[in-house]
Amino acid sequence: MSMPTALINVMNNAARKASRLLMRDFGEVEQLQVSRKGPGDFVSEADRRTEEILHEELHKARPGFGFLMEEGGVIEGENANERWIIDPIDGTTNFLHGIPHFAISIAVERDKELVAGMVFEPVRDEVFWAERNEGAFLNRRRLRVSERSDMADALLATGIPFARRPGKKAFTAMLTSVMDKTAGVRRQGSAALDLAYVAAGRYEGFWETGLSPWDIAGGIVIVREAGGLVSQIDGRDNILYGDSILASNQRLYDPLRKLLTGAVRDAGIKLTD
Ligand code: IPD
Ligand code: CA
Ligand code: CA
Repeated sequence: MSMPTALINVMNNAARKASRLLMRDFGEVEQLQVSRKGPGDFVSEADRRTEEILHEELHKARPGFGFLMEEGGVIEGENANERWIIDPIDGTTNFLHGIPHFAISIAVERDKELVAGMVFEPVRDEVFWAERNEGAFLNRRRLRVSERSDMADALLATGIPFARRPGKKAFTAMLTSVMDKTAGVRRQGSAALDLAYVAAGRYEGFWETGLSPWDIAGGIVIVREAGGLVSQIDGRDNILYGDSILASNQRLYDPLRKLLTGAVRDAGIKLTD
């Protein structure tokens, strides 16, 4: 058991404060499901207010840091090299439909490197957190990625491109090759939690295209500190601002990368097709 650092405590306090409102709003959403108009506007408002609380609390605790937030965008801080990256609700579609699988994601970027991450899942009260070189934790328990090395035993997570998002052909090609060789694929609807679950050894791996920095920043630190590997699907390193992510335990990272890139190459397409 390790003691959370001051920075982790700041993140935890902000996430817990914001989550009280979020849980109240989630209760409301369940009521609104049956109304004709549905809970759409209400959820956008919940998103906005949650982010506002996170912004206020984190700014109070570290006044010099800047922000990159899903709703509020970029706010420059006095320290040009340090900023928070925030997704107030990752898994909004779940939240909107009354499905209890969503999270608050917070990360710290310092000198362009991710140095701390937290993914807080309020329904099960699970806080996944990590700081660089300090290990990864679920509440107070140390996390380790899974040891499975056989693809046939691997459970993977992914996200399916929807609406007008690009990457549907590539997704279909990758899914086709993966579903043939693994124990199963899940689409649970929160990239932040998908990464946290890889860190916890619940999934062997996770891949997705077209994500934004706030979806994955917190989870990336947690996977790395749990001993996992994270890159773009083709192995490159510009994960936050690139167009794809692959996270996995060490043993299955290479085979998975080859499987996914091979599927896209064999189909004669690009990841964004
Ligand atoms: C979404 C979730 C989802 C992923 C989507 C993201 P949001 O974030 O992470 O798992 O597949 O592409 O946009 O919109 O719920 O914050
Ligand atoms: Ca998100
Ligand atoms: Ca969101």
